[in-house]
Amino acid sequence: MLGVELCGIRLDSPLISASGILDERAESMLRLLEAGASAVTTKSIGSGERKGNDNPVIAETECGLLNGMGLPNPGIDAFAREMEIMRNRRPDGVIIGSIFASEADGFAALARRMEDYGSSAIELNLSCPNARGFGDEVGSDPDTVLEITREVKRVTDIPVFVKLTPNVRSIVDLAKACEEGGADGIAAINTVRGMKIDVESFQPILSCRIGGMSGPAIKPIGIRCVYEITGEVDLPVIGIGGVLCGNDVVEYIMAGASAVGVGSGIHYRGLKIFEDIKREMLEFLERKELRLDDIVGIAHRR
Ligand SMILES: Cc1cc2nc3c(=O)[nH]c(=O)nc-3n(C[C@H](O)[C@H](O)[C@H](O)COP(=O)(O)O)c2cc1C
Repeated sequence: MLGVELCGIRLDSPLISASGILDERAESMLRLLEAGASAVTTKSIGSGERKGNDNPVIAETECGLLNGMGLPNPGIDAFAREMEIMRNRRPDGVIIGSIFASEADGFAALARRMEDYGSSAIELNLSCPNARGFGDEVGSDPDTVLEITREVKRVTDIPVFVKLTPNVRSIVDLAKACEEGGADGIAAINTVRGMKIDVESFQPILSCRIGGMSGPAIKPIGIRCVYEITGEVDLPVIGIGGVLCGNDVVEYIMAGASAVGVGSGIHYRGLKIFEDIKREMLEFLERKELRLDDIVGIAHRR
């Protein structure tokens, strides 16, 4: 009932775990699959080990999470072990290897490694807002997005998704660059730049001062981005941002998403979020007497 196909990959539901939550170690990625995620996106992995920003790196707000992690990760060499464990324990599990670098060659080298490790697809993180020299500093310029996408596509045989930032004037221009570069799909969105100040100490809470907002606050932004992209570009989109319940997924799919990423929702609702959302989606479809296919992009129709 909820199965979808994404760039030739069969998923038993549209619910993918988004990059950055419980996905740096094999054990926690396995838990995501066991909890009902149809695919796991890994933590974004770079060429070497990275400590990330100093604490505090997370702040709760009234409408979502603010994070300034700064892309901490074990590096691509050490990540081989986690992928090996994953592949041994769940040979059938769909794993999207997320990577980050500062230029095209670096992305291409990491993509090759992720493919060798048995990733089902690659996600290019061109959108993290809190790591100097990486993420949206690289991915805000359409020409750079095109160059990186093209180079990665040249060296890999598995599907390539490009994860875009909403922190630009036109996300459609970035999406068009992905299409021109030969991307198989787009993931949208990464976090939205935000800030929180501790009024007692007069200081920003995050050590990096400005971080990325996720959770309920950004869902309307994610929906708008998916709607704009799918209106202009003919690529499948993984809709991400503020998914907490079945109706949120339905909304993304109506905006044109082919699948959705769940990130902060795991923090708010626990691992049971995957099974809860599936049940809520089935209830919706049954009530409306519709199939999932019927509602894909339905909000574009007048
Ligand atoms: C703590 C945390 C860490 C994240 N790390 C990454 C990351 O390594 N790579 C990436 O592409 N996105 C990362 N993200 C962004 C999420 O994948 C997602 O795009 C964003 O949080 C919006 O979705 P959500 O509202 O469901 O959390 C991170 C988000 C959070 C909250």
